[in-house]
Amino acid sequence: MDVVTDSLLVGLQERSYSIVFGQNLLTNVGEYLADIKFPKNIALVTNLTVLDLYGQTVLTSLETAGFTCSVITVPEGEEYKNLATLELIYDQLIEGNFDRGSGLIALGGGVVGDMAGYAAATFLRGIPFVQIPTTILSQVDSSVGGKTAVNHRLGKNLIGAFYQPRLVLIDIDTLKTLDRREVRAGIAEIVKYGIISDAEFFAWLENNVSELLELEPEALLHAVKRSCQIKSDIVEIDEREGSVRALLNYGHTFGHAIESLCGYGEWRHGEAVACGMVVASRIAHNLGLADEGSTARISTLLRNFQLPVDAPDFALHQFVTAMRRDKKVREGSLTLVLNQGIGSAKLYPVSNIEDTFHSALPDLES
Ligand SMILES: NC(=O)c1ccc[n+]([C@@H]2O[C@H](COP(=O)([O-])OP(=O)(O)OC[C@H]3O[C@@H](n4cnc5c(N)ncnc54)[C@H](O)[C@@H]3O)[C@@H](O)[C@H]2O)c1
Repeated sequence: MDVVTDSLLVGLQERSYSIVFGQNLLTNVGEYLADIKFPKNIALVTNLTVLDLYGQTVLTSLETAGFTCSVITVPEGEEYKNLATLELIYDQLIEGNFDRGSGLIALGGGVVGDMAGYAAATFLRGIPFVQIPTTILSQVDSSVGGKTAVNHRLGKNLIGAFYQPRLVLIDIDTLKTLDRREVRAGIAEIVKYGIISDAEFFAWLENNVSELLELEPEALLHAVKRSCQIKSDIVEIDEREGSVRALLNYGHTFGHAIESLCGYGEWRHGEAVACGMVVASRIAHNLGLADEGSTARISTLLRNFQLPVDAPDFALHQFVTAMRRDKKVREGSLTLVLNQGIGSAKLYPVSNIEDTFHSALPDLES
């Protein structure tokens, strides 16, 4: 039986929008878009894998509801989330005579969503867009909150804009075709929400590991919805990351260092974040913000989700150099997100980056 369709509102004044959750939603995309009076002329941005799996369902629904839709495919993979691919999107929008009265749909994971979102933000100074995320990570994180970006050769997400979608449609059925490793990587971001903001949700995750790994619909829907609610609450307070939105970067400073040292693809983003969260919780423990029990619970839960918790084999100075290049370093001081036990987190500037990370990773060669 299908779980009930549900929704929540991201309240951002004139930029407010709904996130709709459920099963079998893709067959009704056209109706949802008609409800929000979305433009009739649409460019659907996706990649060939997702197009093959879900393109026909979405296109049929849109056509039945009276929309005209052209497909723009982008190459698959983080290494193509760049200005060159963005230009291919602009080329097709211009050649296809899309104008200010047109709309754009992002159908796919975070790579498609970030890139299509940035194209929508910038084409003709902004056209309306809708997110239809199809990975766990994109459903609980990247499709919500309006961060759009492409990578530059010198760093991740360096060229981007805050640009909110008009609607986010989350069909958890799409996760059935997702690679198992992508499922686990997405779950890392779900665990993050429990650690930074909701101890009860963290405890619920501890009791629902196999249900989530097996994509049991009710459990999955609860986890995705609770994650989006937490993200939405934070974005409503701080849309442009002037303060509390930075808490969502928990585990990401060390995680980004892993990704940048290992290169694209070897570690999935969520895997790197999992390891980064364990490091962050050890630092929190060393600084007296979290007890040993919290750190042990975090590490055990991530292990139970079959996520990596041990740092890859690099020297401490290599991690530190990578972290210094991160956007979060200002005037030599690095602002870390540290958990206070489980269920709350705070921003914590550290000036001695080496010592702070050495205390959490004593086995690493310096
Ligand atoms: N904007 C934000 O706030 C934000 C937040 C977190 C992450 N991100 C970005 O998100 C990106 C990572 O996103 P991701 O983890 O979704 O990776 P991804 O977009 O690369 O998708 C992972 C893989 O799954 C495939 N795929 C997608 N949906 C599928 C489905 N339903 N069935 C089968 N295969 C499917 C994709 O083609 C791809 O090969 C990164 O670029 C990261 O920077 C952005």
